[in-house]
Amino acid sequence: MKERLVSGEVLGEETALEPSLRPQYLHEYIGQDKIKENLKVFIEAAKLREETLDHVLLYGPPGLGKTTLAVIIANEMGVKLRATSGPALERPGDLAALLTSLEPGDVLFIDEIHRLPRAVEEVLYPAMEDYCLDIAIGKGPDARTLRLDLPPFTLVGATTRAGALSAPLRDRFGVISRLEYYHVDQLAQIIERAAAILQIGIEREAALELARRARGTPRIANRLLRRVRDFAQVRGDGEITLPLAVEALERLQVDRLGLDHIDHKLLLAIIEKFAGGPVGLETMAAVIGEEAQTIEEVYEPYLLQIGLLQRTPRGRVVTPAAYTHLGMEVPKR
Ligand SMILES: Nc1ncnc2c1ncn2[C@@H]1O[C@H](COP(=O)(O)OP(=O)(O)O)[C@@H](O)[C@H]1O
Ligand SMILES: [Mg+2]
Repeated sequence: MKERLVSGEVLGEETALEPSLRPQYLHEYIGQDKIKENLKVFIEAAKLREETLDHVLLYGPPGLGKTTLAVIIANEMGVKLRATSGPALERPGDLAALLTSLEPGDVLFIDEIHRLPRAVEEVLYPAMEDYCLDIAIGKGPDARTLRLDLPPFTLVGATTRAGALSAPLRDRFGVISRLEYYHVDQLAQIIERAAAILQIGIEREAALELARRARGTPRIANRLLRRVRDFAQVRGDGEITLPLAVEALERLQVDRLGLDHIDHKLLLAIIEKFAGGPVGLETMAAVIGEEAQTIEEVYEPYLLQIGLLQRTPRGRVVTPAAYTHLGMEVPKR
């Protein structure tokens, strides 16, 4: 099985050469206060009762801290984390091998859990519910099932698309948490924390400017910090000042709202080719040459959140705010 390899990939930082920016304990995890408070209670209660934590489903757009929370849950429970992903578990046997190798209390993290093959998902049901494995032996009239006990474990599932999860799977999670986009001040804190770990000097105003352009997303905030650091080292004295940050962000083609050239292409396509919409997802994807799924999971949620795009039953529509943001005149309808 490729599980070892998958572990590294799933948990991997952007570059392996740098110190990890990933918070390891709840107190280091900034924002998502409701989720944090709930998890703190559930974890404490499970520890008091010397029980395994209930299964946890985390959902929300990429880069908001789902994998990080899985790591934190294992650390806070004082157990090991085993990580894999939906597409990596191709056959029921892959999951069975993983489940039987767990130690009592371990956290099993399945990223992109909405992409589990159906046959694998069915192995998961009894495992989640009764900590057991039903193994089919033989075929035809001689077929029997053998029940194998598993150590108790906590499943942490992560998905960008809660709607793509089957109801029976979703119902087997005791805790279901939706991660929200971060506020600017929280992102600024995340940037300042990362800067301290990476030993980069950054002005408060510069951290806020990066935060405003990070699309509510910690992963993007950290990425912008790394790129802007390059400019600071080559063009300045290494300290990230506000003017330097602004200049670097312009060069990176990240605009005042954090939109990049793909967001622009998307909005402009709807405006110029479809008179502002409505236009269907697939058509839009074909026109700008991106995958429909990427648009739906990565680009659209933020554009919807900041009100530049709207979803209607007949398709996507740009809002007057989108015209204004792009410096275009709002058409009279
Ligand atoms: N609440 C947070 N506080 C500080 N840093 C965070 C937080 N959430 C995410 N990060 C940073 O953002 C990166 C991406 O988070 P990750 O958990 O991989 O997102 P997801 O799994 O939801 O795509 C992490 O490596 C971490 O450095
Ligand atoms: Mg992840």
